Amino acid sequence: MTEAILLVGGKGTRLRPLTVHTPKPMVPAAGVPFLTHQLARARAAGVEHIVLATSYLAEVFEPYFGDGSSLGLHLEYVTEREPLGTGGAIRNVAAHLHSGPEEPVLIFNGDILTGLDIRSLVDTHRTSGADVSLHLTRVEDPRAFGLVPTDASGRVTAFLEKPQTPEEIVTDQINAGAYVFNRAVIDAIPSGRPVSVERETFPGLLDAGAHLQGMVDSTYWLDLGTPQAFVRGSADLVLGRAPSPAVPGRCGDRLILDGAEVAGDAKLTGGTVVGAGARIGAGARIAGSTVLEGAVVEPGAHIQDSLIGAGARIGARTVLAGAVIGDGAVVGADNELRDGIRVWCGARIPDAAVRFSSDE
Ligand code: GTP
Repeated sequence: MTEAILLVGGKGTRLRPLTVHTPKPMVPAAGVPFLTHQLARARAAGVEHIVLATSYLAEVFEPYFGDGSSLGLHLEYVTEREPLGTGGAIRNVAAHLHSGPEEPVLIFNGDILTGLDIRSLVDTHRTSGADVSLHLTRVEDPRAFGLVPTDASGRVTAFLEKPQTPEEIVTDQINAGAYVFNRAVIDAIPSGRPVSVERETFPGLLDAGAHLQGMVDSTYWLDLGTPQAFVRGSADLVLGRAPSPAVPGRCGDRLILDGAEVAGDAKLTGGTVVGAGARIGAGARIAGSTVLEGAVVEPGAHIQDSLIGAGARIGARTVLAGAVIGDGAVVGADNELRDGIRVWCGARIPDAAVRFSSDE
């Protein structure tokens, strides 16, 4: 197993920047662009050649990752003119693959953070003799996901759309966004038009009698589709719950990057990351949050489960919980912002302008 495709494109809100200017795959998670963790994990599993299939802002990846040699990888970039969907994107990079028809190619969705044992997925693929193998994860509430039931041997029996009624919840297994495809399956995807693997390729393969094998692996798994999930994922990388060789430093309660200034009595916990050149004032308490480079948190602010964009400023005694503050935004002193609020890049909230609790 030497090569993989990483899907980092598409359209829709999931791919919009997280209120910060940086495109999502490049937003730092535990101090490095999120994509670095996926690339480093693939490398650690023995992958040497990775093709990045992108459809937007491709120009941000190549200047940063280059030919991949700093990660011990050979990286190539392929940009779609129009988003081709997951299957179309995979087909579109086929000419860059070196594998023969019966050789396996790994494919990863670019917005999943997982502790998946990649080698074990490849082993499952080889021993089962499948055409495609999929990582499946179990979720508590499967209503928001397409379901992937399997038989006793792990062979996939169907791909079901999001369940609408309780009777339709026939399994708690969902597609976790990591696959092994035999090269021949990739070449058989129609080229030059949008194709969805979940809605077209996989059901079509099942109808044709192909062997799709599921590997249920209940390791760490997080879909980074929302900014809150992104902040959670970054904290879990720092805490070591989500394993990645690319975390720059020892895992622990906090990660403070070079050039950050943190006041002696500030309390940073729960996997908080403080980016380069950021400043944290006296008495600030920050838990499970990401403070991007150059941001300023003034004395006495309390921040939890929040993302503070690059160069943003959080005023003294302000309380943030589950908030996303865009790059360069200014939140004045004595505010309280909660529960999924997003402050747009460069916006300004005056002192004592917003509260949830009483004004005492
Ligand atoms: P389809 O299966 O094509 O309908 O996409 P989806 O909406 O089910 O995919 P989802 O949004 O879950 O994205 C899965 C992964 O594929 C993410 O990492 C996306 O960045 C990536 N992706 C989705 N659509 C495209 C696309 O058109 N081009 C590329 N290169 N990547 C895509």
